[in-house]
Amino acid sequence: MADNNPFPGENNTGHIWDDDLRELKNPPPRWWMILYYASIAWCVVYALLYPMIPLITDSNKGLLNWTMMEEYKEGLAELDQIRSKYESRIKTMSAKEILADPELSNYISHGDGAGAGKVLFGDNCSACHGSAGQGTPGFPVLADDEWIWGGSIEKIEETIKNGRGPKAIIPSPGMPAHAATLSLQEINGLAKYVVGLSEGKDDESGKKLFMEKGCVGCHGVDGKGLAALGSVNLTDAIWRFDEEDRLSSAAYTIRHGVNQMNNPKSREAEMPTFGTRLSADEIKKLAVYVYKFGGGK
Ligand code: HEC
Ligand code: HEC
Repeated sequence: MADNNPFPGENNTGHIWDDDLRELKNPPPRWWMILYYASIAWCVVYALLYPMIPLITDSNKGLLNWTMMEEYKEGLAELDQIRSKYESRIKTMSAKEILADPELSNYISHGDGAGAGKVLFGDNCSACHGSAGQGTPGFPVLADDEWIWGGSIEKIEETIKNGRGPKAIIPSPGMPAHAATLSLQEINGLAKYVVGLSEGKDDESGKKLFMEKGCVGCHGVDGKGLAALGSVNLTDAIWRFDEEDRLSSAAYTIRHGVNQMNNPKSREAEMPTFGTRLSADEIKKLAVYVYKFGGGK
């Protein structure tokens, strides 16, 4: 090949294309060679420091003893340290004080790690009340400012801790069935009257029945309900059990009552007791979280 090299004496490899395009044997630039050797050296150092060389069941441990697990645990410890600053204060404060402390209430309502309001609510409450307290059919909205049991931070905390209904720590009587004591006509008249109240109407004969048949005892003269009995406001546009067919829903509730344990047809309105399942701190956090849905008052 060297014999017919048209560029004799040049340091080419003898590979020539298109008459004069040829491959030369120049060494690569020095800076490139330095990087090249440095990267080889880096591989050796890395392999010594970190687990890199696969062995039969494991890999070499590396001189630094680094493991991914260790790094994860350190990260977690760091997070715990940040949280413990808040958690230790939550332990000593009431829900009301926590609510008034912007730093703590922010930590509860905007955090998304373990123990944050969002996680506690998602795990324990959203199945019934919806992921943002928007309510689901048969379960009350927590994000409005209409409260059955009271919307102060103390009342919300009490509801979560003790529960509400026949199995609550302090059981509530619910509403008796009236199927046996009232005629169909009276029941329908009362249903019409209370649906009218929610539409801003009042009528004398309805009011008379309401007073005479004892409804007034629990729902109040104005029909606005008593938070101590959980007897709902009948004058607002919120219907707990069936939003669509209000007249039949009201008539059904009057006929069969609410939370009458011995009556399978009775409406059920039971808020479970969380005081036995969650810690006092978790309940305080939930009370603050629910209050901050925007409806607390
Ligand atoms: C099994 C379903 C269920 C779960 C789970 C549940 N609730 Fe309830 N909750 C109810 C029902 C039903 C009521 C209404 C009780 C009534 O009508 O008297 C209620 C009422 C409430 C009220 C009172 C609302 C008012 O208007 O006064 C609050 C506050 C509340 N729940 C918060 C929570 C929180 C916080 C959690 C999670 C820790 C939770 N609930 C979990 C069913 C549930
Ligand atoms: C012993 C107290 C008590 C008496 C008496 C009573 N109620 Fe109730 N009523 C309640 C309670 C408690 C609820 C259920 C609230 C809840 O948990 O959602 C309720 C719920 C209702 C509802 C359903 C409201 C809704 O949002 O769907 C209607 C309608 C109603 N009552 C009408 C009447 C009428 C009419 C009378 C008179 C015949 C009457 N109540 C008598 C306690 C009572």
